[in-house]
Amino acid sequence: MRLDLVKGFHTLVADFAATAEGYLDDCVAGNMGDGDASCGKFLTFSRFFQQGTHLLANHRPTRPSPTFPILINSPPPSLTDSRSPMSAANATPAPLSRRFSVAPMMDWTDRHCRFFLRLLSKNALLYTEMVTTGALLNGDHDRFLRHNEAEHPLALQLGGSVPLDLAACARMAQEHGYDEVNLNVGCPSDRVQNNMIGACLMGHPQLVADCVKAMRDAVSIPVTVKHRIGINGRDSYEELCDFVDTVRDAGCTSFTVHARIAILEGLSPKENRDIPPLRYDVAARLKADFPELEIILNGGIKTLEACHEHLQTFDGVMLGREAYHNPYVMAEVDQQLFGSTAPVISRAEALAQLRPYIAAHIDAGGSMHHITRHVLGLGTGFPGARKFRQLLSVDIHKAKDPLALLDQAAALLEGR
Ligand SMILES: Cc1cc2nc3c(=O)[nH]c(=O)nc-3n(C[C@H](O)[C@H](O)[C@H](O)COP(=O)(O)O)c2cc1C
Repeated sequence: MRLDLVKGFHTLVADFAATAEGYLDDCVAGNMGDGDASCGKFLTFSRFFQQGTHLLANHRPTRPSPTFPILINSPPPSLTDSRSPMSAANATPAPLSRRFSVAPMMDWTDRHCRFFLRLLSKNALLYTEMVTTGALLNGDHDRFLRHNEAEHPLALQLGGSVPLDLAACARMAQEHGYDEVNLNVGCPSDRVQNNMIGACLMGHPQLVADCVKAMRDAVSIPVTVKHRIGINGRDSYEELCDFVDTVRDAGCTSFTVHARIAILEGLSPKENRDIPPLRYDVAARLKADFPELEIILNGGIKTLEACHEHLQTFDGVMLGREAYHNPYVMAEVDQQLFGSTAPVISRAEALAQLRPYIAAHIDAGGSMHHITRHVLGLGTGFPGARKFRQLLSVDIHKAKDPLALLDQAAALLEGR
């Protein structure tokens, strides 16, 4: 192999390592904060992968760089791991319904998080983090698409705006068993804007329609769109209707509406989830004007009472931050919103059911923290909750026997 190629690749690996280190720091810090920083890092990852792949296109190393196995979590045995005890317990997944869903959240709704949330509700539709078409087409797509059978019903969210690429990725989603593929037209991050991904696409309804058509032509699973009610400079109700109308004409029948506009310049993604006011009235007007479409409401929903109320108007509700920070809100979803007669799982039982999954992950070389960082929210609102969070977010990094620490934390949930 030529020396300049080797050097070029080494530089990329060093950059990658620096970025990965930042990402791992976030994980180690139990990132309960802003997933957008990681969103950027994630996109940077894909770019490094892409560049590295191009560099090595004609010069495959005879053995992999030693850096990668250290940086990337050891993968579990298979893409869709049907050996987990949970998959057996959940052999027949609930049918896909969008009555209640958990939002796609970068760095948060990874496969471990989804596995955990599934223990709390069998019916909630779960979304992956957004995966860009670039990452899927040029990166290790098996790694991005990997999930456990128990996670169904499960939707993959894609970020992109090239119809052919989106079609190819939708096909991958279907081949890997996803129940739905969703197009992100809501993310306001600068980085994705520069790649014509996310909320900026609200200014290009015909392009979104072309993307949806290409995806629908490629797969038989449903293709849905998650969007805002507008973007700055294009935030009138007429423009929103024009967007929905155009995309509907391409065959999309289900729209998840984050009921606030995105301000594409001057606000961070985090601010864009809080500062523009929620306009449930605008989303409700949309439902009234497009009664034949499935309209799912998203943004600021925190309780099952609020879900009940919104379901008088909308076809479904999607919860993001509340489902993550207070996951136990999901425990009564099956009974209250789907008429299930199964008993409501306790916090203690949910953690007990998660234990074999954690043990298998550790056996495969993974760290317990990859999973337990998503369960910290179980520790809210009862005496001992703080200790629970401390064990799993601080003490965990010193623990020699992580499962013993888990059991110690689990004991604090007894009777809850
Ligand atoms: C950490 C984080 C990451 C997010 N990543 C995505 C994403 O990848 N795709 C997306 O469509 N929305 C993303 N969102 C937005 C949520 O899906 C949702 O629309 C938003 O949080 C509003 O819902 P909520 O008020 O229930 O949290 C993200 C939100 C958060 C908090």
